[in-house]
Order: sequence, then C-alpha cells, then structure tokens
Amino acid sequence: MSKRPVVLVVMDGVGISNNELGNAVKNAYTPTLDELWKTCPHTEIKAHGLAVGLPSDGDMGNSEVGHNALGCGQIYSQGAKLVNESISSGDMFTTETWKELISNCENGTMHFLGLLSDGNVHSHINHLKSLLSQAKKDGVKEARLHILLDGRDVPETSALIYVDEIEAYMAALNDDQFHACIASGGGRMNITMDRYEANWAMVEKGWHTHVLGEGRMFASAKEAIETYRNETGVVDQDLPPFVIAKDDQPVGTIEDGDSVILFNFRGDRAQEISLAFDGDESFDKFDRVRIPKVMYAGMLQYDADLNIPHHFLTYPPKIKFTLSEYLVNKGIRQYAISETQKFGHVTYFWNGNRSEKFDNELEDFVEIKSDVVPFDQRPWMKSAEITDVLVEAILSGKYDFLRTNYPNGDMVGHTGDYEATIIGVEAVDLNLKRIKKAVDAVNGILIVTADHGNADEMYEKPKKEGAALKAKTSHTLNKVPFIIYNRDVTMDEGDFGLANVASTVAKLLELEPDSHWLPSIIK
Ligand code: 3PG
Ligand code: CO
Repeated sequence: MSKRPVVLVVMDGVGISNNELGNAVKNAYTPTLDELWKTCPHTEIKAHGLAVGLPSDGDMGNSEVGHNALGCGQIYSQGAKLVNESISSGDMFTTETWKELISNCENGTMHFLGLLSDGNVHSHINHLKSLLSQAKKDGVKEARLHILLDGRDVPETSALIYVDEIEAYMAALNDDQFHACIASGGGRMNITMDRYEANWAMVEKGWHTHVLGEGRMFASAKEAIETYRNETGVVDQDLPPFVIAKDDQPVGTIEDGDSVILFNFRGDRAQEISLAFDGDESFDKFDRVRIPKVMYAGMLQYDADLNIPHHFLTYPPKIKFTLSEYLVNKGIRQYAISETQKFGHVTYFWNGNRSEKFDNELEDFVEIKSDVVPFDQRPWMKSAEITDVLVEAILSGKYDFLRTNYPNGDMVGHTGDYEATIIGVEAVDLNLKRIKKAVDAVNGILIVTADHGNADEMYEKPKKEGAALKAKTSHTLNKVPFIIYNRDVTMDEGDFGLANVASTVAKLLELEPDSHWLPSIIK
C-alpha cells in the first residue's frame, strides 16, 4: 500500500466559466491555482444535474449532492427526485405517516413549514402545492403556511413571485370546507434554517415566529416583505421575521393537536428545527416557552442513524459503499476538517448523510468554529485557521487520507457581493499554497476540486442587453476543476463528474476501487 498521503481540497462553490463578467474565480488573483492548473494533470468535471442525481440537467449543483457524490462514488437519486417520484406516483399519500398526519389534525390545523421557492436545493414550491391539495382532498379543514424566503438558491429579490404564486394557489383551493393561508415567515438566513449548530438563535427566533406567533405583525406576507424591503433594504434571505395577524391576533400559531410538516427535503438546515419539534426531553438549545403536542414529520428523514425526525414522508437515498467505509475497512487513517458552516459537508454529507464515524480509531473530524457574521464582511472566513490545523495534521504523518472544505467561494458567493467573493477566492488560493508546501514536505499527493459552482457567476444573466447588473446569489451549472498535484498521472478520456472522484482517490492510495463506484478519472 502507498505510504504517500493523499490530501483532497474541496473549494466550495468554485466553478469554471470562461465568461469574464462577474467571474470571481477568473478575476481573482490566484497564482497557486493557476500554476497547478498549468503544470499538473487536470480536467473539468460535472457537478450538477443528472451527474449528481438531480431531476434534470437544468438543476444546479449543491453541496449536499456534491459531497454525497464525492464521498460515495455513485449517483443516487437525490431528495428532489425522490420526492417528485413519490408525489407523482401518489405513494407519499398512502404512507402511514401521511394518514396519521391527516387524522391527527382532524380537529386542528395542518402546518406547512419550509423554504418557499423553486430552487430545488432544499425544497420546491410544487411539492408544497401537492401537499396542500392532497390535504384538502383528505379532509383537512385548516392549513397554515410558515414560509422561509429564499433569495439564495433563486434570484435575491424574488420572494414575491413565490408568495403570489402560492397565495393564488391557496385562493383557488379555499372554499367553505377548506381554508389555507400564510401564518408567518422570514428570511431563511435570519430564522429557522441554521445548520451545524452555527447559530441556534436563528432557530429560536423561528420558533417564536412560527409556533408562538410572536413578532411584528402584518396583514399579509406581501405587506411584510415590502415593508421590510423599504425599511431595511435587505435582500430576501435576510428579511426579518413576520407574523400574519387579523385583529391583532396571529392567524396560525402552532397548538396541541396540530400536525406540522417540514416540506424541505435537504437535511443540513432541517435538523435543528426538527429537533426543537421532535427531539427528546433533553432538548436544551433554547427555551421553547410552550411545546405544543403536535405530530411532526419531515419531507425526508434528515439523519437516518439519529432518527431525525422520527416521522417522515419520503425515505432518503440509502447511500451505501461510501469511500470512508471502504477506506476504514482497509485500515486507512482519515482526517476531515472544515469550519462550522461546512463541517457537516465533509463529514455528514461526505459519508452519505451519516454524522457518525465508521471507526473512531481510524477517523478524526475537526471543526473550526465559524464566525457568526455576514460573510461579505469576512470573506477570508476561517480559511487560515483551517489551514493551520490541517497543515499540522498533514505533517504529523498520522493520516493517509485527509480532506477539507474551504467554504469561501460558496458562502461569500451567496452574499452576492462580487468584490468580497474575489477576496474569498484569493483567501482559498493563499491557503492552497500552504497546503501544497505541507504536501511537498511529506511527499504527499494533493487533489484540488470543488463541489459545484457559485463564485464563477456573480451576476444574473441580464434579461435585456444593457440592463443593469443584478447580483446573483445562487449556485451555477458550471463544471468544476479537478487537479492532481505531485503525482504523474494520465487523465482518462471520459465525461467525468464528482462521482468519479472516489475511485480516483482509491487509485492514488494504491487500492483497487470498490466495484460499485464509477470509474477513476486517472488511468
Ligand atoms: C445553503 O443552504 O446555503 C444553500 O441553499 C446551498 O448552499 P450549499 O449547497 O453550498 O450548502
Ligand atoms: Co452554496
């Protein structure tokens, strides 16, 4: 077996595009990346659509499906696709969970909580529509929506498009037997959708908004959004919370005997709010003030080992034969590190949505605490701190395979701030230089790649020629780099994607790739 350690760097959100305009990857000063690209074996690989198990090639990549594919070497049908299938076949509505959710709220209300957009990263508005109309068919009388405004997987000020769409949909459904309306909401980066315990205060704020009906009151979601936009100028993802009220009374607090469905299918930002509703008695992340006795279900089960949540409408992909498990079985010592915002990406997502280790002896996971600030204000994020610790791990000689994620291209890219994103990409480059030096010192091999694009397109495509540029906050459809440093290899011919990386890693570790994986990128 090779004694040469392999280090894999995921530059989150760093895709490849030849366009100059708004390309924070191309326009950043990245001497290390440029030199690696020029002097090392490299190729471009697919990170979106069918190549990562999404419904179509029109679906941009994202970190969940990207890290799943990297870490398991296979293409699984992902949440977005599984939910589509379960809804269109009708299977979802024949499950015990659905039936129980319906019968549980016979004298109560059915609440739908989730991200309101067609981003298809965490949720899709069409899924919500199907749930609403089926709820009506199955006899639900009162339905309430608790909407999280997106602007991060879709254009940054598009919330009203989706609000109008769902209001119109509900208006068509409403009659004297059935009544649905929006009860509360707020920006997804302001309330409820925290991840990896970066900021529980967001979830607490969400609880107060959706469950307790506390907060600034408005007559409609549209009024709330327009008012906040005028007052604060913030974009959708950051909009403050709002409660919809009539005669000063919230129209949809969550009460005993109600049913609650979190209609997001992706797990990272769904887990904390799920624990608040559905965790055990030891829940102590914040004071919930009042804990309604509800039946709670997720669109998917977000962590199958930890049973989060207990009830769910769609089985998640059962991701097997992961690279980590395979390497553990071969006695390979592994190390994973990132900062909080992406820590679960290189552990939980990498290992097929499993947060536990396969082997406590052979695996080390390190989390560097992320700042709780808008990342356009700290585009370097914790890249230097990650590198400090990773370099030590490389030099220690204790690990055969080390992986990291630098979030900058993605997390700063999502703010829509082009100049800050350039700095974010430059910070990654600066750290790559340090990693490269450490890899040299141990005669290791370095793989540099990414999970999907983001920083590579920082402006929306103008609708008309000469129209004003609009910041783009979402991911892209672009391919990502795949570079191997310090090992003379030949790239194979082929149309490769992220799911071809696991076999490549195995080869570099002088191991026969698992037969379930897609072929290696190198000969
Ligand atoms: C988010 O959750 O921040 C975005 O919806 C997707 O970003 P990620 O896939 O890069 O985490
Ligand atoms: Co992202």
